[in-house]
Amino acid sequence: MIPVNEPLLNGNEEKYVRECVATGWISSEGQFIDRLEKMFAEFCGRRYGVAVCNGTAALEVALYAAGIRAGSRVIMPSFTIISCALAAIRLGAIPLLVDMEPATWCMDVEQAARLMPRTDVSAVMPVHIYGHPVNLDPLLAAGAKHNVAIIEDIAEAHGAEYLSEYRSPPQWKKCGSFGKVAAASFYANKIITTGEGGMVLTDDDEVLARARSYRNLCFGKLERFRHEDLGYNFRLSNLQAAVGVAQMERAAELVAKKRQIADWYHEELQAVAGVRLQPAMPWAHPVYWMMAVELSRDAGKKAVEVMEALKSYQIGTRPFFMGLHAQPVLRQYVEIADGGCPRTEAAYEYGFYLPSGIALTREQAHTVGEALKKVLRQ
Ligand SMILES: Cc1ncc(COP(=O)(O)O)c(C=O)c1O
Repeated sequence: MIPVNEPLLNGNEEKYVRECVATGWISSEGQFIDRLEKMFAEFCGRRYGVAVCNGTAALEVALYAAGIRAGSRVIMPSFTIISCALAAIRLGAIPLLVDMEPATWCMDVEQAARLMPRTDVSAVMPVHIYGHPVNLDPLLAAGAKHNVAIIEDIAEAHGAEYLSEYRSPPQWKKCGSFGKVAAASFYANKIITTGEGGMVLTDDDEVLARARSYRNLCFGKLERFRHEDLGYNFRLSNLQAAVGVAQMERAAELVAKKRQIADWYHEELQAVAGVRLQPAMPWAHPVYWMMAVELSRDAGKKAVEVMEALKSYQIGTRPFFMGLHAQPVLRQYVEIADGGCPRTEAAYEYGFYLPSGIALTREQAHTVGEALKKVLRQ
């Protein structure tokens, strides 16, 4: 079986974990936490990082730290993981769902920018889908004008860069360095992994203090057990951070490997009729977290059918996100922007992603490419 993802832990991961065990620093204090926070923040072009136990928690901490008001709207794509909506809902805010931009599968920023003058909108959450940057400039402009916080989700986009022309001179900057605060996931299928884990990124001292407090039960500053708010235990352990530090030591290599995998798949599939790969827009240096494909409508096949057939060739796949607007469990908690999310619905029916783990070999990419071609011809 060629799995959809397989992490590569062949650096100092084991050595550093052993060090934690040998020294007894196994909980959420320890040098690896500090090192990971510094290394990842620096990698993303940020002043501060706050390590947390997963990406879902990172999103909630980010929204809390940015001061998102209960009852206010957080604009986000419908085409994303439920974690984005949960973060807002748990804080009493309301996800306001927009459709996708069909070329990149990222949020429709024009639609989002049109909603940002609304007085009940407090934040917008660009999610860099499958490692392709969202076109952030329209959001940055509308955010500054209407006092709407930009909260990036970079779970799938460690190392991706966006060419911003919002301030002159135009500048390529890492995803996660725009806006008030950003959230990352370090789940095992992410480019940098700690097994489970995440991080909140910011340049703002107040956001930093609020994020650290919320992650750790909002303990009182003067009297420890007089809590300042209803926080959580969202702490990451030093053991997990040890894995993360080893990963960060070769962050550039891991990102380069993802881009290489994408090059292999482009070689295999670009001339194949009926499939479309995620493009790189002129303002984007994507990292191709997963090699996503969308079947053309006239290919006569839907994603489920092709995924099932690939399984018979021992090839793992994952479907695209089902839109949040279509989730029965969310219905009472979300607002859907006018016009609904028809492009998200179509993408769900026709899109899926191929094995793209860091450990994938050239030969495996070829095997996957050949199998997909056969399945499409059947
Ligand atoms: C875009 C996005 N945001 C957030 C998350 C949540 O991260 P975690 O699984 O670490 O909670 C994921 C996870 O896959 C994701 O893809």
